[in-house]
Amino acid sequence: MTVYEALLFVHIFAAVLWIGGATLHVALMQLARRSGEREQSLTLIRYDDRLGPIYYLPLGLIVLAAGIGLVVEGDWGFDQSWVIAGLALLATAMIVGIAFFLPAGKRLDHAVEKYGPASDQAFAVVRQVEVVATLDLLLLYAAIFVMTVKP
Ligand code: HEM
Repeated sequence: MTVYEALLFVHIFAAVLWIGGATLHVALMQLARRSGEREQSLTLIRYDDRLGPIYYLPLGLIVLAAGIGLVVEGDWGFDQSWVIAGLALLATAMIVGIAFFLPAGKRLDHAVEKYGPASDQAFAVVRQVEVVATLDLLLLYAAIFVMTVKP
């Protein structure tokens, strides 16, 4: 196995774990909302908050590091449009993850404390998290498209 193949394996494997996990999370959020049991949505968001720093963030950084390694090791350049697009999509997905989901978790805790777990106020935050998580996931799907088609 060459260094390039090893990097490609790590890059794709980490992307699969990251995007697969995020897809499942969004699917479970939708099931929980449709079930009408609001506490289930809260539990899912709390699990995802815990997974952020120990699962999603490290995997995103591994995708980034292995991607940079692939560009350096392979016959690619950082001026190629698909590499720039990959970097921009990954950075946006990670920045949204940190800048939106962390404060949203705190807003949710606050709403639950003040109005209760089944309140409309808490559920409004749940709904926001679901919408932003779906948009964030679309960025990651776009990154897979850009990586495979290399426009
Ligand atoms: C969320 C972000 C990303 C995802 C989901 C992703 C996913 C993938 C996938 C699935 C492949 C395999 C495509 C193929 O072999 O045809 C790939 C290849 C590659 N990626 Fe990414 N990638 C991401 C970000 C990046 C970034 C930021 C860089 C560069 C800094 C990068 C550089 C590369 C390179 C150089 C290849 C090898 C292409 C080849 O050998 O054909 N990727 N990526």
